[in-house]
Amino acid sequence: MLASCSRTLARLPSKGVLGCASARLKHSLPDLPYDYNALEPYISADIMRLHHSKHHATYINNLNVAEEKLAEASAKSDISTVIALQPALKFNGGGHINHSIFWQNMSPNGGGDPSGDLLAQINKDFGSVDNMRKQLSAVTTAIQGSGWGWLGFNQSSKSLQIATCANQDPLRATTGLVPLFGIDVWEHAYYLQYKNVRPDYVNAIWQVANWKDVEARFKEAQN
Ligand SMILES: [Fe+2]
Repeated sequence: MLASCSRTLARLPSKGVLGCASARLKHSLPDLPYDYNALEPYISADIMRLHHSKHHATYINNLNVAEEKLAEASAKSDISTVIALQPALKFNGGGHINHSIFWQNMSPNGGGDPSGDLLAQINKDFGSVDNMRKQLSAVTTAIQGSGWGWLGFNQSSKSLQIATCANQDPLRATTGLVPLFGIDVWEHAYYLQYKNVRPDYVNAIWQVANWKDVEARFKEAQN
């Protein structure tokens, strides 16, 4: 969710294309809510450090560059450049949105089962938490190439749904589903520890699933 993405205010140079057109918001890397080694043994500190400080940071840097070019092109009514920037905005903006959710979706105190209204909704839509886990694990493991598996909320049908997205395509902008819980299956998320055995990594994710965060997103999605 964009709302969870941290942003800082930065002023454009006064002699920039926009001149005194004002200030614009730049995205910045959100702090992890735990230490890099906090999710061991399920996710190694090496993976977490690289994933957060290098990969996520790169998406943010490239998103800021693309947004700056977008602002310049828009100011000049350069529609061709505005259109040409869309893939970079989708890829890097999606990368920022997805990872910002992902860090919150995990916790060193995670695992177990959800409770309350989310548990009731999972039981209604999937029969049981185990069935939901099996279905999400299966489709996520089967993603060809890089992408994400998601548990999302359909605000029209008031139901939970499982979906996958390729590359960094963000769930809501791509499918309309509100993202609740995501599993990153880019190789950078697991290869250092799990090599090519993606199913073991996906199974391990459930041991650090932060159901309190997922329940909060579910509650917000219903409003
Ligand atoms: Fe990632």
